Amino acid sequence: MNSTPRKGNVAWQSPSNIALVKYWGKHGRQLPSNPSISFTLSKAVTKTRINYAFDAVRRDDIKVDFRFHGSENIAFKTKIEKFLNSVKEEFDFLSFLNLEISSENSFPHSSGIASSASSMSALALCLLDIEKELNNAEQIDFVKASHLSRLGSGSASRSVFGPLAVWGKSKSVADSSNEFAIPFTGAYKPIFETFHDDILIVSKAEKSVSSTAGHALMIDNPYAQSRFNQAGGHLTEIITAMETGDLEKFGNIVEKEALTLHALMMASDPPYILMTPATLSIINKIWSFRRNENIPVYFTLDAGPNIHLLYPEAYAEKVQSLIESVKEYCEDGMIISDKVGQGPIRL
Ligand code: PMV
Repeated sequence: MNSTPRKGNVAWQSPSNIALVKYWGKHGRQLPSNPSISFTLSKAVTKTRINYAFDAVRRDDIKVDFRFHGSENIAFKTKIEKFLNSVKEEFDFLSFLNLEISSENSFPHSSGIASSASSMSALALCLLDIEKELNNAEQIDFVKASHLSRLGSGSASRSVFGPLAVWGKSKSVADSSNEFAIPFTGAYKPIFETFHDDILIVSKAEKSVSSTAGHALMIDNPYAQSRFNQAGGHLTEIITAMETGDLEKFGNIVEKEALTLHALMMASDPPYILMTPATLSIINKIWSFRRNENIPVYFTLDAGPNIHLLYPEAYAEKVQSLIESVKEYCEDGMIISDKVGQGPIRL
């Protein structure tokens, strides 16, 4: 490593993302059991700043100073330290750094939106920016940032690229890999970059079964293998739908993916349900609105009860009446209006 600079600061803003074809089930060291594709979002972001100092003494146990929205947060600090210690063999420079990290989310902390994709990718980008500075390199290595993000949280690997990112090996996507995500560069119609994602917050509560536990339950899920095959097929099909601009096909796959994800949870041992009656009421409202109005508006779900309402910009005005009609199912009427975005920004 070059001798200059020995200290400095870096800051990155990184977005959340919403999977269209879902990653559910993993093996080895955070390797996905099937490929996935996502829209990168633009408003739900984490901003992370790091003051760093490099010294020649290797730390056996990496400790950080951490602030979340200006205050101490022991749970997040512990998570970050655990993550850094778990990757220090692969990313040797981390053991020589003194780190003061501060982070904030653009979305309310208790909104039921998982922040691991935006926070882990913002952290990884900062760390690789530090490595770049220490090496006097020209450019940050985004693929390496995606790899490091993945080790923190699988879906975070996709947040490094926008507006669409693919993670997981697929014969339909050249250069795709299980180790990191890549930007999706296939020929898709511009309408897909105009998509809104209105997140209808059905519940702000932390979910009863974490994603980590959910992934683990896929190991003994009797439907696992056929699910992994299905996801691979869905990726190929959705790519064709985006290439031809077939919104109906696109929406059909996206909704099947969401419901399959939750069906897998219900078919786990022990079984569990993360959707609530409000989730189902909203889904039925979306379906009847779509039927009656003939408007391409679709939903997807994360591993939780909240609905992501997806529709192209051209229909934003018309979708307003649907949004008004489902507000009553949202906790405190909370809706986070997001859109497809271009990816992380260096601050
Ligand atoms: O990245 P994790 O371990 O939080 O898992 C995310 C899983 C889903 O959000 C349900 C699907 C996905 O591909 O993002």
